[in-house]
Formats: sequence, structure tokens, C-alpha cells
Amino acid sequence: MQVVNIGVLGLGTVGSGVVRLLKDHEHKISSITGRKLVVKTVVVHNLEKKRDIDLTGIKMTDDINELINDNEINIVVEVMGTVATAKKYIELLLRAGKHIITANKDLIATYGSELAELADQNKCDLFYEASVAGGIPILRTIVNSFAADRIIEVKGIVNGTTNYILTKMSQNNMSFTEALKSAQELGFAEPDPTNDIEGIDAAYKMIILTQFAFGINVALDDIEVKGINGIDLEDIKQAKGLGYNIKLLGIAKLVNDRISVAVGPVLVPETQPLSAVQNENNAVLVTGAAVGETMFYGPGAGELPTANSVLSDIIAVTKDIVLETTGNRFNDFSREGKQALPDE
Ligand code: HSE
Repeated sequence: MQVVNIGVLGLGTVGSGVVRLLKDHEHKISSITGRKLVVKTVVVHNLEKKRDIDLTGIKMTDDINELINDNEINIVVEVMGTVATAKKYIELLLRAGKHIITANKDLIATYGSELAELADQNKCDLFYEASVAGGIPILRTIVNSFAADRIIEVKGIVNGTTNYILTKMSQNNMSFTEALKSAQELGFAEPDPTNDIEGIDAAYKMIILTQFAFGINVALDDIEVKGINGIDLEDIKQAKGLGYNIKLLGIAKLVNDRISVAVGPVLVPETQPLSAVQNENNAVLVTGAAVGETMFYGPGAGELPTANSVLSDIIAVTKDIVLETTGNRFNDFSREGKQALPDE
């Protein structure tokens, strides 16, 4: 069986999950794709760090050129968690003809259109299912299953860390600080959790969802963003007493032919499905003019759920390689306004 070699950039929570899942499901993936998928090289910052996964047969290096110059490597998974370096590396890799899969929402929300253009020029695939809502296959669902509908609203809980903190404060009387510490220990939070608690991480995800749902590119500055850092146990208790849960929601909707995007804490009645979304889980409600309201629920962060989304991209790219139909990106960031308004 022909081999598709994969390079991985970064071996933190998600990178480790990708290596683990690929090994665990090697045979099933081969039977779906018709190729043997092998992690050939992993680039890490710190070669000395002890890793809790089986790295047998994998070349470990701290040199990005080992990916760029290796003609046998077809696909690179970027899970480094930084923006500037990741962008620089991805540009070099795309120019070297590598298909890119990333979980980096900060990067895609900020430079998605530029990178999509570069991927296009080099006939490379660029996919990032794991960048929004962790384990929920929401981007592919919007692209494939809403293609014939007109989306009116996308709303939901798209940050696992803040939902975990709000849940623990509400159900276990944990303080904000204790709950955040626990989310960090469980690997849900960003290395610097400021983006989680201030709503920026959710805003990046809403930028990507807005592009997918409405064909509109919005920037962080266009979004009203409020985090959960001002919320204390007393606020949560009072809300509960009145039959509400406080949830950090992202909302993108069509208002008078314009798209409005916002992120902030909202009092959600206990009777509504979003109110029941607990811990690090996420849920995205997509309302289409034809289909009405739909809801997609699942883990929004964590090693294996996020790695599973990366794997779905790896399989999609491999199918493109087999069919010689590479040069795909999820969405065309340059087709601004494509779905924003009703067809005349
Ligand atoms: N810090 C992010 C979250 C990780 O908590 O949702 C997944 O994007």
C-alpha cells in the first residue's frame, strides 16, 4: 500500500492526540483512504522534554527544514499554538507544496484569507476543522449540509474553558481562580488563558464561523467582545435563583441585511438547551431559512476530541491526494458577501 507521510509541528495536548489516534486507528484509516498514513517527523521546540506517548519510528527534530525539505512528506499538521511562528512556518511549507492542517484559530481568524490564497497558488489543501468547537465537526457540516440553505444565525458556546469555569462555579461552588486552575490542569485552557477568559478565543472562533455561515470576513475589532472575568459566585447564584445559567455565548446573525457578531456572558433560561451544556462541552446552534434551528453538541477542547477533528482533515486531504483533487480549502475567504444576503 502506498504511504502518505505526515509531519507534525508541535507535540502538546493536540499533537500528542494526533500521533496517538493515528496509531490506534491505522487500519481503519487505511481502509477508508487506500493509503498507509504514517507520522514521519515531529518538530518540537524542546527535544529534551519527556513525552508520554509512543514515538517509535518517528523522527524528532527541532528543525523546521526537516519538514520543508523532505519531499516524502505530503501533509503537515500545525498544532504549535503560536501565531507569528506558525504563520511563518506554514507559508514556507505551503510554498514547498505541503498540504496544511491546523487547529490554530487565532491564526486562521487573523490571516485565513492570506493563507488560503497562498494555498491556492501552490495547489495545496488548507483545512482547520479543529480550530472551532474542538471535537464538533461544525465547519464541514456548514460547508456540506447547509450548502443549499441560507443561514440566518449562528450562536453558541464555543469556548470550553469558560464553560468549564462557569459550570464549576455554579455546581461546585468553586471560585473563579480554582476553576480556571482546574481547566488549565486538564489542558483545555490556552497557554495564556487571558484569551479564554476575556472572550477573545471565542471571538476568533466566531470570525471563522461567520466566514463559513455568511461568507463575510470580520476582524476582531468589528466584534463586541466581553469575557467572564467580571463574574463572581454571587452573580451565578442570583442568576440560578431566577432560573437562569450564565453562559459565554458567541452570536453572529443577519440584522437588517447586515451581519452582527458579538461575544459575551448571557443569562440563558434553564429551559433552553444551551443552558444544559456543561463543563468543557460546546454547542453551536445554526439556524437556516429552510431547515430552521439545528444544534451541534460535543467536547469543545481536550486532547482526543480535538485530535479527532484533525484526523478528519488528514483523511480529507489524503482522499484529495488519491483523487488528485488537491488545492482545496474549506471556504473561500475571498468570496466576501457570498451568502450574506437573500438571493434576489
Ligand atoms: N482554549 C480553548 C477552549 C481550546 O477552551 O475552548 C479549544 O479551542
